[in-house]
Amino acid sequence: MSELPKYTQDGQVVTLAFKQPLRLTVLTPTIVQVFVDRGDQGASYAIEGTKAQTTPYTFQDAGDHYELATSALIVRVDADKHVDVTDAAGHPLITDYRGDRVILDKGVDKVHQRLVEAEGHTVQKATVKSDTGYYEVVKSLAPDEHFYGLGDKTGYLDKRGFEYDNWNADNTEPQLEILPNLYKSIPVMLGLKNGHPYGMFFDNPYKSHFDMGKESAHYYFYSAVDGNVNYYVLGGNSLKDVVANYTYLTGRTPLPQEWTLGYQQSRWGYSASQQEVQEIADNLKKYDLPCDAIHFDVDYMDGYRVFTWDKQKFDGDPKGFVAKLKKRGIKVIPIIDPGVKQDPDYSVYAEGVKKGYFVKTPDGKVYINKVWPGNSAFPDFGRPEVRQWWSKNGQFLTDMGAAGIWIDMNEPASFEGEIPQDVVFSDQDRPSTHKKMHNVYGHNMAKATYDGLKAQQGKRPYVITRAAYAGTQKYATVWTGDNRSMWPHIQMMVPQLCNLGMSGFSFIGTDIGGFASDTNPELLTRWIEAAIFSPLLRNHAAMGTRRQEPWVFGEPTLSIYRKYLKLRYHLIPYLYDLFHQETQTGLPIMRPLVLNDDTDERVRNLNDEFMVGNDLLVAPVLHPATTKRLVYLPAGDWIDFWNGQEVAGHQDVIADAPLDKLPLYVRANTLLPWGPTVDHVADQPLTAMTFKLYGDHGSTQHYQDDGQDFKYQQGEYNLYDVRVAGQRVSVQLTHHGYAPVYHQITVELADRQVTLVYDAASETYQAK
Ligand code: GLC
Repeated sequence: MSELPKYTQDGQVVTLAFKQPLRLTVLTPTIVQVFVDRGDQGASYAIEGTKAQTTPYTFQDAGDHYELATSALIVRVDADKHVDVTDAAGHPLITDYRGDRVILDKGVDKVHQRLVEAEGHTVQKATVKSDTGYYEVVKSLAPDEHFYGLGDKTGYLDKRGFEYDNWNADNTEPQLEILPNLYKSIPVMLGLKNGHPYGMFFDNPYKSHFDMGKESAHYYFYSAVDGNVNYYVLGGNSLKDVVANYTYLTGRTPLPQEWTLGYQQSRWGYSASQQEVQEIADNLKKYDLPCDAIHFDVDYMDGYRVFTWDKQKFDGDPKGFVAKLKKRGIKVIPIIDPGVKQDPDYSVYAEGVKKGYFVKTPDGKVYINKVWPGNSAFPDFGRPEVRQWWSKNGQFLTDMGAAGIWIDMNEPASFEGEIPQDVVFSDQDRPSTHKKMHNVYGHNMAKATYDGLKAQQGKRPYVITRAAYAGTQKYATVWTGDNRSMWPHIQMMVPQLCNLGMSGFSFIGTDIGGFASDTNPELLTRWIEAAIFSPLLRNHAAMGTRRQEPWVFGEPTLSIYRKYLKLRYHLIPYLYDLFHQETQTGLPIMRPLVLNDDTDERVRNLNDEFMVGNDLLVAPVLHPATTKRLVYLPAGDWIDFWNGQEVAGHQDVIADAPLDKLPLYVRANTLLPWGPTVDHVADQPLTAMTFKLYGDHGSTQHYQDDGQDFKYQQGEYNLYDVRVAGQRVSVQLTHHGYAPVYHQITVELADRQVTLVYDAASETYQAK
């Protein structure tokens, strides 16, 4: 056994003098950073500001190892640099693996790979081992260990047994469970080891890889092609605590504008003609379908030049048209891509070249690759000055009346092969490489777009991005990119969104109906049902696919679609309450059951149900020709949303699920806010609110503000405490910072309604 190295202690930082020193930093009792400097400079893109809080801890030489202990975590490091973490009670959470990796070479996948290669196809290589900067962090795997998070990945809720790459990619292959990477890299994992929760966040933007026990039943590992060893151990008493800790570090999804929770209609191709968009808006109205926004895909631009608008397609006055739509309650969200068309007569390109704002080849020329506009240059978003330039360019879209901006292709996608690793990108003001900056490209574009909108509109920016890194949740809503109209993708939606939520992203959604391939009435119907609680509610499809607006298939699709959109709008106040809570806890809106109760073994890999907050359980139908399904109800009593019947929990029940029915259960004794029937989210403050009681008693904290700007941060919001106890219904305005209160509050009980009215003099609610 080698000897323990010397150490130095500086406040909450302990450095162990190994050949490559290992640094342990105590940030909070439940967050400890493990760091080995391998020469990579630069600050984190995910974590902003200092997160260290004054935290008591002890550090001692325990003979054959050092031991650092907070009130919640114990980190042991031995002379061979093994890092082991337990909780305060001594339960192992993270243990360095003592053996050597046995590299999987004879597995089915490798055999398959060879066959495919023999047939002349190229194979995506999962392994990244050849790089000189390569390192790996290998941890012991317990027989009872489950994994969650990992950002936006294909496959199932429990990631055990799968491997993934972290390298943002615009991959057009179907997103099935063997596809190792999608558009986002969020290298956080949550674990339940023998029932004990923990997490690790690997804050390294270089290409990395997670093998969650695919190669071996004895270990799992993280590896990266370069960068520092830099991971945060996240503790807590529950998975909820781990998510709270992770979002404390990387930030929480800010409160969105309330209308962004409304329905949004999109299709690649609409905005090629004003008439078509007009027809869509007319049909939404004609068919009584509530809607808040229409998205404008790349076709509205002048030859795919970002920050331009083709006037000819809009009777010479796109701005006037956007304003007209807005008057009807429909906001416009235009798309922009990072690729700037190589055209010396186009001001954005010309200015970018002149000021040196584009990424460059190693010999200093503007780097060009092809995207939608053809040959294009790529803004160097890592540089603050370039971000500011981009933010300012956003003024054009704000002036045109855009209510938000959809940013796409920001992995960055490039049609003529991947951008070479050595293309010069900036890491803030330092020259760096594509190799390092690739995974944070979309993040920096999102931040630039967010900052611009915030300055120009003064409202909570609505940015929707495809590419992201850890922490992008602070700046953008995300959608899961180009899924397909097929049943495996509606099935995948549930674990995919649940794991994104556990990875800090709360404002999320999929393309409803499926983007590529052709949808069908049944799939579209089941998709709107399954997605009706996803925070981002957008139907979007690719050009050339079968149309999938709610009315195109006639009845019964149209009526069912309408029924669910109306349900959604009634529950927007509930979703908004959950967002308000999320800003404080980091807990997502859509949750896997395991997040609400990680002690229930039955839900550790439950892929076809989810919860909305703590109290709504959704069990969508995700298979064709299905009219009944098995639903697991966790402990507690549940109420069938549709017929009010009580059902005992901790059992599987068979739910009826004809085409028009989404099995939906409310936890007994829940009080749900229930907004009015509207055709879009009201621009004016609501004067009344209803609460529906499920069960015989209940209480809720309800949040209200102007739904638009940042004044709530100065206290301009209201909090209502609504309660039903015994026969008594009461409402208290526990915080009154936003002037327009509800004049009237109605509580619907099983057998009666109680209405309370506001008395301004006493600021109280009294029975009518
Ligand atoms: C990408 C986007 C998709 C969009 C298309 C055209 O494929 O993911 O949503 O419609 O580009 O802009």
